[in-house]
Amino acid sequence: MKKVVFSGVQPTGKLTLGNYLGAIRNWGQFQDDYECIYCVVDLHSITVKRVPAELRRQTYETLALYIACGIDPQKSILFVQSHVPAHAELTWVLNTITYVGEMNRMTQFKDKSSKHADNINMGLMDYPVLMASDILLYKTDLVPIGADQKQHLEIARDIAIRFNAQYSDTFTVPDGYIPKVGAKIMSLQQPTQKMSKSDENEKASIYLLDDADAIVRKFRSAVTDSDGEVRFDEVNKPGISNLLGIYSLLSDKTIDEAEIEFANCGYSVFKDAVADAVIQKLAPIQAEQKRLLDDKDYLTEIMRQGAEKANCLARKTLSKVYRKVGFIQL
Ligand code: TYM
Repeated sequence: MKKVVFSGVQPTGKLTLGNYLGAIRNWGQFQDDYECIYCVVDLHSITVKRVPAELRRQTYETLALYIACGIDPQKSILFVQSHVPAHAELTWVLNTITYVGEMNRMTQFKDKSSKHADNINMGLMDYPVLMASDILLYKTDLVPIGADQKQHLEIARDIAIRFNAQYSDTFTVPDGYIPKVGAKIMSLQQPTQKMSKSDENEKASIYLLDDADAIVRKFRSAVTDSDGEVRFDEVNKPGISNLLGIYSLLSDKTIDEAEIEFANCGYSVFKDAVADAVIQKLAPIQAEQKRLLDDKDYLTEIMRQGAEKANCLARKTLSKVYRKVGFIQL
């Protein structure tokens, strides 16, 4: 039996270089050795207000992006969360063993509550339980995510352990896979904060669909420091360190090698080199995503096949859970 990898991205806003380097980029490597399941988490994404037509479009765009980034639908299960009702059903059961106090303490809940003060809905608070359901339904062993999702993964582990203790062994307790470099790509304008698709300042984020000009412009205006030395020091030089991390990931060079390469260059040469590395990496992904989006029927068929496979796996776990809880099975 292969071990299981599960991860997902919300089809919200424009996906960023952070989503790519922190998560999606790492998914492909597991495809040969693990049973991989990658989900477009549309249920999560309605916890903030959405325009329905935009959500539909972004769901297709996110699925196309997964494939364009090298996720092979013949090897991995690709599906859309709302096509598998067990996610919402398991969430209800898990809600009954999750405490309000725990959810209140979640950093992302606090952040989003302050950003969307007029819409602090129950879904926003329940978000980590739905994420736990995503993971636990598939007996997931490994969850590749960026650092900002670590707290949610820990809650998923706690919920699994709690359920197992209360109703006997049912869920696999998952581990996170958080890359050493790239787990937290920072904003280009405020390099002590993470790059986020919900940032209102467009200059702060590289979007995966940005064209070459926009990428060059954004890196040129990236906030750095005044000492002029390309050196990794996250405390004193967060801007340059962020750029070094991005460059190192995309050029397959270590941070040390990158420091040597740019030792006697000014920041402007370095910034243009980072922009160039990003453009080279994104151009083929963008072209492939565009090609896929022109073939909606193909993408819909991938969704359909993925939903069928995911439903089959998820139903099995859900019915086990229902049996353990004491629900009558017909
Ligand atoms: P989401 O959609 O906010 O982000 C998707 C993935 O991108 C990572 N990420 C980053 N990594 C590095 N630097 C950044 N600046 C950066 N910004 C985002 C996130 O850590 C994430 O891995 N709750 C999840 C989606 C989800 C999920 C799941 C993930 C729902 N169910 C089950 C794994 C397993 C989220 O909102 O991700």
